[in-house]
Amino acid sequence: MSADSMLALNTYDPASAAVADPTIRGLIERRQRIFGAAVPLFYEDPVHITRAEGVWLYDHEGRAYLDAYNNVPSVGHCHPRVVDAVARQAAQLNTHTRYLSEVVYAYAERLLATFPEALSNLLFTSSGTESVDLALRMARYHTGGAGFIVTRFAYHGHSTAVAEITPAFGPGVPLGVHVRTVPAPPPGRSGEDVSQSFAAGIEQAIADLRRHGIRFAGAIFDSIFSSDGLYADPPGFLRAAAETVRRHGGVYIADEVQPGFGRTGAGMWGFSRHGITPDLVVMGKPMGNGMPIAAVVARPELMASFSERSGYFNTFGGNTVCCAAASAVLDVLRDERLIERSAQVGQYLKDGFERLQRADARIGDVRGAGLYLGVEIVDQAGAPDTREALRLVNGLRQRRILVSTCAAAGNVLKIRPPLPFSTEHCDLLLDAAGQLLAAG
Ligand SMILES: Cc1ncc(COP(=O)(O)O)c(C=O)c1O
Repeated sequence: MSADSMLALNTYDPASAAVADPTIRGLIERRQRIFGAAVPLFYEDPVHITRAEGVWLYDHEGRAYLDAYNNVPSVGHCHPRVVDAVARQAAQLNTHTRYLSEVVYAYAERLLATFPEALSNLLFTSSGTESVDLALRMARYHTGGAGFIVTRFAYHGHSTAVAEITPAFGPGVPLGVHVRTVPAPPPGRSGEDVSQSFAAGIEQAIADLRRHGIRFAGAIFDSIFSSDGLYADPPGFLRAAAETVRRHGGVYIADEVQPGFGRTGAGMWGFSRHGITPDLVVMGKPMGNGMPIAAVVARPELMASFSERSGYFNTFGGNTVCCAAASAVLDVLRDERLIERSAQVGQYLKDGFERLQRADARIGDVRGAGLYLGVEIVDQAGAPDTREALRLVNGLRQRRILVSTCAAAGNVLKIRPPLPFSTEHCDLLLDAAGQLLAAG
């Protein structure tokens, strides 16, 4: 794996002297023997989690860790309503997807009801990667083009076609010849018009594709630019991007694998903060609170173009057990008002980090939306300080609070807890971060 890969961020180094526990050392050795070196492990001193509940993880010694990182168990680890839905459905029926099913259609209709009317079809898959892969095919069939635009450190998944549009794998995994990258939107500190500069990058990339004889098929952007370093503001800046893509006959694909299902605190979907209706939307991760379910939501004309060319069958995609889990996730989001909570608690956490920022020049920027924050760590010259970011991440881990890093330089703390996170949990994180800054 290249040292410049996103997968190399916050990675355990076999030379690390931090691992004192013989159980952990034994597990690390087994993992490396089984998986080889390609499958990274978090932290200088990796954690062995054996149980979880709400926003807490517990290790093999029963020690509690505050989870400020995981968006898959988005409504809380092992939420009893999701666990119950899975157990009941597993006891009743779980098969492949070529039979009629009330459970599956009821969930699909509920999910579609959370989208703008123009997005009225969907296909289920089992992972974000599969959804992105399928969306690329749909965009190709609809436009007759092959060229795609992504941001400079985007991560979209691991199949052959998706790795070709994923610069975050680093130089060891070349982009496809049909792929162009654009800089992620700047945070706009300089007063620059973020919307226009981002759209101008897209315009140039389309012109470059054309110059190389490659017909434009579309652009895919994570609506919160997670791996690029988290760029959420100003709301609305994606409007010009979507207009540019469409003006040139392309398909706008919103990757909601990270911001979807209420994470940003501004409704269910990250794209709605920007006032756009994409042509295709891909989602996964939090959809089933850990059960493998993902989807592509499409305008009917894209689904029609796809159906003319291809059939679709996915053995596990949208099976009854996963749909039961995903339906329970929607129940919990509604009944526990988790989207409102994401907005309120996220703002509290952002305010707290901004207080730390005013007192410490090492915090360069605090950005994000809802319960998804990026805290940029810089040196005295304002340049990315990866080493200091890692010191903070590993220091928090030693205090049993879990976060990680993002951005190409790995200098942005990535804070993305399960949505039941409370202001008390924020205080635990902020106090620990403040102590580590003071001590460093
Ligand atoms: C923005 C984004 N898109 C797509 C994916 C791929 O999803 P999966 O790992 O479920 O295949 C990821 C995974 O991290 C992601 O962050």
